[in-house]
Amino acid sequence: MALINFKFIKSASKKNEFLDSVLPQIAVVGRSNVGKSSLINLLANNKKMAKTSSTPGRTRLVNYFNVNNEFLLVDLPGYGYAAASKSEKNNWDKMLDDYFEANTNYVADDNGELVLDLEKSNLKLVLVLIDSRREPTNLDMFMCEYLSLREIPFIVAMTKSDKLSRTDLNNSKNKISKILKLNLDRIVVTSANKKIGSAELENSIRSKL
Ligand code: GTP
Ligand code: MG
Repeated sequence: MALINFKFIKSASKKNEFLDSVLPQIAVVGRSNVGKSSLINLLANNKKMAKTSSTPGRTRLVNYFNVNNEFLLVDLPGYGYAAASKSEKNNWDKMLDDYFEANTNYVADDNGELVLDLEKSNLKLVLVLIDSRREPTNLDMFMCEYLSLREIPFIVAMTKSDKLSRTDLNNSKNKISKILKLNLDRIVVTSANKKIGSAELENSIRSKL
């Protein structure tokens, strides 16, 4: 079934406003202005589903969308917005931390080490967005390390691929794979403007539900 029935549920500005839902969650993260809201609109095939903005740092909330009543797509606050005040930045980082903390479950394995219990975790997959034209930033690397450490499954979606030639796009993909130490099959090329990548993302999402 296609991802057709999108419904905005709510925005949360702090931890106690997070949705405690029985539905699995798929989260979207990335640098401010990377194209998170546009990617959600691409998946929804509806340009007006999530608010987009040419001014970075507009989405300071955790936004929940119900998709087909099968899962929640979660638009997380953008990180690394240079013009944000320090306290705002801290708040964002805390929001991300709080979100991951609230939606994952860990159990001790036979050696007493904590391992992610994906079954019991609301969060099933994170889409880490990276601008096709830019090298991953330290914050992108930190984000991927953060997720790896916590064993949270993630893939990278390269955004705005329409801005690059095929050759440059390939070079960029290889660079991202190298810098983030990710297999090429964990990187999906997308463009909200040209409607590229939604089927591939949908497959990745479905495989985790
Ligand atoms: P914040 O919520 O502010 O962190 O931004 P965001 O990550 O949600 O980005 P958003 O989707 O609002 O897009 C930011 C800018 O990039 C807007 O001007 C979009 O029009 C542009 N943009 C997003 N996706 C694409 C794309 O696929 N191609 C092109 N050319 N521009 C895009
Ligand atoms: Mg946004």
